Amino acid sequence: MAFPHRHLLGMADLSPQDITQILDLADTFLEISTRPIKKVPTLRGRTVINLFLEPSTRTRTSFEIAAKRLSADTINLSGSTASTVKGETLLDTARNLQAMAPDVVVLRHSASGAAHLIAAHIDAAVINAGDGMHEHPTQALLDLATIRRHKGDMARLRVGICGDIAHSRVARSDLIGLTLMGAEVHLVAPRTMMPPGIETLCRPPGRVHLHDALDEVLPLVDVMMMLRLQSERQSAGLFPNLREYSRTFGLGPARAARLRPDAIIMHPGPLHRGVEIDPAVADGPRSVILEQVTYGVAVRMALLYLLGGGTVEA
Ligand code: NCD
Repeated sequence: MAFPHRHLLGMADLSPQDITQILDLADTFLEISTRPIKKVPTLRGRTVINLFLEPSTRTRTSFEIAAKRLSADTINLSGSTASTVKGETLLDTARNLQAMAPDVVVLRHSASGAAHLIAAHIDAAVINAGDGMHEHPTQALLDLATIRRHKGDMARLRVGICGDIAHSRVARSDLIGLTLMGAEVHLVAPRTMMPPGIETLCRPPGRVHLHDALDEVLPLVDVMMMLRLQSERQSAGLFPNLREYSRTFGLGPARAARLRPDAIIMHPGPLHRGVEIDPAVADGPRSVILEQVTYGVAVRMALLYLLGGGTVEA
């Protein structure tokens, strides 16, 4: 089945069928990473540029590994090595990269809308690897893949997302993706970190519930996702101090015991151990945090394949 999109800019552009197609393909790619020789020739001769103008460990490494496992040539440009630090505009950087004929450009940028901007000006497929507070669609897709593996069909599944919703592109993309797939989302945040109008991202409307107490959400949910405080995007004063935040919105062993016995615990990383999640919970038996990272490679392989014009000869 042909994939009906040229770029992946946000979850808001995808249908449930598109999401299922990506997740099914990711499941088939998962196996390649378990082989002794982790490489197939699918994207041989294609070029993938990873342009990461904001810090990243997981996402950048994961895209690079995904491209290499499909035999694409990869070039990595990060904040300190890209000419944007010399004052070049993002658009000029993108046009110059385009002149070298890449097939896919993966962009992480601190400005919301950055991926949309370059997609309108270059021929390569653009994948949004996180744009400011807006969207992080590949994270949402790897979250959906992990949830589907553990819980099966997502219709009517209850998913809690707790933390700095206001500054989190992960929360926005997950909210769109989860509700598109039929799940019910329970957002928990201090009032200062719950953005007005967030419920309008829910598709269809009505599948999101807003809370200001984590304790009321814990017994309800099949999946509990904790978020990092996005201190790099926050103006001061959204919460008195970290200890207070952790006491009220952190997931420690006592709180985790209030979850349903079969609930899974997720986090997109990087973790702030002891702030939003206690080490005993992050490393505990119900945590699927490292499985999320493993799925990250498979999901990004699926997307590079679908958008990079892969051919099946493996
Ligand atoms: C997230 C991001 O960058 O938005 N991390 C990630 O991609 N794994 C979440 C975060 O930084 O807290």
